[in-house]
Amino acid sequence: MRFDYVTIFPEFFAPLDLSLPGKAAAKGLVEFHVHDLRAHTHDRHRTVDDTPYGGGAGMVMKPEPWGQALDAVARDATIVFTTPSGEPFTQALAHELSTHDHLVLACGRYEGIDQRVVEHAATLGTVREVSLGDYVLNGGEVAALAITEAVVRLLPGFMGNADSLVEESHADGLLEYPVYTKPASWQGREVPEVLLSGDHARIAAWRRAQAERRTVERRPDLLPATGAVGALADLDVR
Ligand code: ADE
Repeated sequence: MRFDYVTIFPEFFAPLDLSLPGKAAAKGLVEFHVHDLRAHTHDRHRTVDDTPYGGGAGMVMKPEPWGQALDAVARDATIVFTTPSGEPFTQALAHELSTHDHLVLACGRYEGIDQRVVEHAATLGTVREVSLGDYVLNGGEVAALAITEAVVRLLPGFMGNADSLVEESHADGLLEYPVYTKPASWQGREVPEVLLSGDHARIAAWRRAQAERRTVERRPDLLPATGAVGALADLDVR
């Protein structure tokens, strides 16, 4: 899988050489290519922004450098514009993007990119406008890194232990249950007895109930409308 990043801050992507994405690149599962948007400017000041038509605060990214940059790297790609006004980035979208061969992450800054660039991109490839969440970052670079990490770890052959993909938060629509490791007693705090019992059915039921409880308490919006949460009622987990 190939990732291209278009940004005015190429240095932001140095972490791609570290940690998990770096390992995936070393294994040959992914390639990362970072492009400086300013390489596609032609004035002395390497200008990438201008004032908004219609007035208003802030600056808008100019179409010409973006058009030229995307023409160079984005043909037949899936082009992701990171923007707070995009569709929410979810685990489901991470899975979908992980099936694509070529992602281009277009990182906007300031008040955003001239909308005609998005229309132009749609003539080159498939466009997605994606938001990391309901808050505003200074630019799309951090969002692009987060999307990269979420997608890369789903690639076949990437995770050492594929089971951890099955059990983690959001894999089954619930938040993950709490986890513990040795020692069994730490600072007077005990690991829940059920986890030491060796009774796999009880452990599975306890974990399911904990996952449901967490989801009810923290993310009721994730629960199915039918209220299919069952084990909670049967088990004393509160
Ligand atoms: N750029 C600025 N804020 C953002 C957000 N929440 N998601 C994606 N890109 C952004």
